[in-house]
Amino acid sequence: MIITEYVEGVRDNVRKARLSDRKIILIPTMGALHDGHLSMARLAKEGEEDVYIVMSIFVNPLQFGAGEDFAAYPRDLHRDAEMARREDVDLLFVPSAEEMYSPDSQTTVQVARLSQGLCGASRPGHFAGVATVVAKLLNIVQPDEAFFGQKDYQQFAVLRRMAEDLKLPVKLRLAPIVREPSGLALSSRNAYLSWEEKKDAAQIYAALLAAAERIREGERDAQAVAEFLRRFIETHAHGRVEYAEVRQKNDLQPVEAITKPVVLLVAVFVGRTRLIDNLIVEV
Ligand code: PAF
Repeated sequence: MIITEYVEGVRDNVRKARLSDRKIILIPTMGALHDGHLSMARLAKEGEEDVYIVMSIFVNPLQFGAGEDFAAYPRDLHRDAEMARREDVDLLFVPSAEEMYSPDSQTTVQVARLSQGLCGASRPGHFAGVATVVAKLLNIVQPDEAFFGQKDYQQFAVLRRMAEDLKLPVKLRLAPIVREPSGLALSSRNAYLSWEEKKDAAQIYAALLAAAERIREGERDAQAVAEFLRRFIETHAHGRVEYAEVRQKNDLQPVEAITKPVVLLVAVFVGRTRLIDNLIVEV
């Protein structure tokens, strides 16, 4: 596995891989790798003989708001590199903030409507930060496919819109959420949770499953399902629900009557840690 901090290092290596006809895959991450990230590398290789996997590790300052956990975000490059190497990642891109953002930089990418509401409501500027850094990474690597985790469902919707709007020649792929045996969705931020908080956090998935069950039993009122979801979390866990919503699966539009596939989305503070999770329900 090659490790580079430089855009030119990525371009040189990807150019060579392309010459030998390999399919270029990008897996953007902020590091603190866990099985959710590694599952994307495995998914990329499934049924493919000749893939060239580029993984980026960059804690992107632009997507953190004031008072968020940019400084505290877990960083352990040595451990991450070892995990990536074991997963047969070909190229690890670990740029500095200066390599990604020159001091003169003035350009950002905004995806207007999809960035509002849900996480966008409490994290203004977050999705512009994500879209900007991912647009840069896609331009640097120019992959055939790029993978993103389903846990950040709104992020994926924003990035898919961006790729379509900017006519980027890349296929964006959504990797299923990987969960702990308790149901807790894997996240780098789980490192902040105490043992007690982890037990509370596991109730988030229990709530999503229970709400999905209500839909399967015939509940069609999206507001009633959202309220059920919120109440379930509030009664089964010490958590503060930031939002619990039912949205259209495809475009994240609000729903009144559930007649098409939907996605249940939640953001919950367990102690000081903000966790998000979601579940797609096909009807
Ligand atoms: O999902 C993440 O880890 C980040 O938002 C991403 C896509 C790597 C952009 O910084």
